[in-house]
Order: sequence, then structure tokens, then C-alpha cells
Amino acid sequence: MTNAASAKYVADFRVWRGSPAGGGLEDFKVAVNEGEVVLDVIHRLQATQAPDLAVRWNCKAGKCGSCSAEINGRPRLLCMTRMSTFTPSDTITVTPLRAFPVVRDLVTDVSFNYEKAREVPAFVPPEGVAPGEYRMRQVDVERSQEFRKCIECFLCQDTCHVVRDHEENKTAFAGPRFLMRIAELDMHPLDAAAESGLDRRRTAQEEHGLGYCNITKCCTEVCPEHIKITDNALIPLKERAADRKYDPLVWLGDKIRRRPE
Ligand code: SF4
Ligand code: SF4
Ligand code: FES
Repeated sequence: MTNAASAKYVADFRVWRGSPAGGGLEDFKVAVNEGEVVLDVIHRLQATQAPDLAVRWNCKAGKCGSCSAEINGRPRLLCMTRMSTFTPSDTITVTPLRAFPVVRDLVTDVSFNYEKAREVPAFVPPEGVAPGEYRMRQVDVERSQEFRKCIECFLCQDTCHVVRDHEENKTAFAGPRFLMRIAELDMHPLDAAAESGLDRRRTAQEEHGLGYCNITKCCTEVCPEHIKITDNALIPLKERAADRKYDPLVWLGDKIRRRPE
């Protein structure tokens, strides 16, 4: 560990400390070395001044999605935000994800996301084709591969205004990460959901709140994996849901199904 005397400079940090009962920002001066990221400085703060500071992290390589927090109000990974992003005179404010309840200090309870994940029905295997015999065109593989880069950091979920400022929307809205999952499955050429009676486009609209999304692209802007969530998943899913709605055969089918007995 490097002490302040050999540091490149000493940075001003403001870190939120507290619990579900409440808390506030505390000021610290922390040493910074060449090539460090914000998580390094938070660890130094823990080691030298605030041993009980709670922060969640795991890989320190942008791959586990654990160290999500807000830096100067923007959802970011602590381990992928270089200190060189800031000038030595900047005050760096680190706060927990705003859309989820605080556990302690920088750690939030992200179980909302796991509940939403459970609500999305899994891939439905095609009948009569054994695993290992699945064949897909390369273009379909590439399309879903983009979405599979997701590290479940939930930064997109945190930034989306539909839930960020409206706790009451959480029940009805799955959020960008899980609408993207539905889009991925709906685009999957081997998914046999429709054959089993599951209409993913209808459920996206009616059960997972696709209509709440007004394609502001804020989710795309914060994604550390640079997934084009809005352009490649949410907009195509909206188009597919609209195609379904205006398909005369679907319209007729819905009418017949709704007819009173
Ligand atoms: S594009 Fe949609 S899902 Fe993404 S942040 Fe905006 S409203 Fe939320
Ligand atoms: S889509 Fe991007 S921002 Fe959202 S959870 Fe996955 S990696 Fe994180
Ligand atoms: S510690 Fe794993 S993504 Fe930051």
C-alpha cells in the first residue's frame, strides 16, 4: 500500500455513509497513485481511515458487476472508472445506487432485479431437436451474443427514470436489462415459446411494462459492456410488439378469444 507521502496527489472524496435508517456524505482526503481506479482509492480509504466502510466488489476487472455505485451522480462501475477521468482539484462524490434500497454505505439491495429475472420465462427448447443438434444462422448468433455480454451490474436498471424516480412503477416494469432478455428470447430462432402458447411480445407489453420505456437511451449510455440496449433490443421489441398488435390475424384471434361464452 502506498501512503500519502509517496502518492501522486491527494484527492478530495465525499462518500455516502449510512444505513436504511439514514446517513449522509462524509469528506475524506485520500492518496491517489498513477493508473488507479476509483475502487483502489475506496480500498485505500477503507484501509487507512474508514475500516468499517461497506463496499461490494469481486473481480476488479469489470466482469462481475458487483461494484456498481454512483460517481458524481452517474451510475458507474467503481473498478472501471479511472482516476485520470478527473482532475486533482475535483471532488469525487461516491454514493450508492439510487434506485435500490441501501444495505449499508455503498452497498445496495439489488434483489428487485432478481425478482424481475424470475418473472421472464426461460428459453423454450424446440420439440424433436436434441441439445447439440441446434443449428442457427451466424447472423442470429451474433445478434444474441451482444446481449449475452451483460454482466448484470444493473447500472441500466438504476439509471432508467421509469423506476429511478418512481418507486411505484417497480411492480409493473421489468427495466431495460430484462426487457432486453425478452427481446433476446423473442428474436431467438429456436425458441418455441409461441408453440407452447407463450406470446413473448404480448407479455412484454402487458406484463413487463415495455410501454413505459420512451427510448431515452439513458440505459445504453451507462452500460459498461457498450450494449446498444435501446437500439438493438428495446426498439426492435417495440416494433415486433406493434407488428403483433396490427397483424389482422392476431387481431381476429384476440377478438374470438375475448368473445363472451
Ligand atoms: S431507453 Fe427505456 S429502458 Fe432505457 S433508460 Fe430510457 S426509458 Fe429506461
Ligand atoms: S445491460 Fe449493461 S448496464 Fe445493464 S445490467 Fe447488463 S451490463 Fe449492466
Ligand atoms: S469488481 Fe467486478 S465489475 Fe467491478
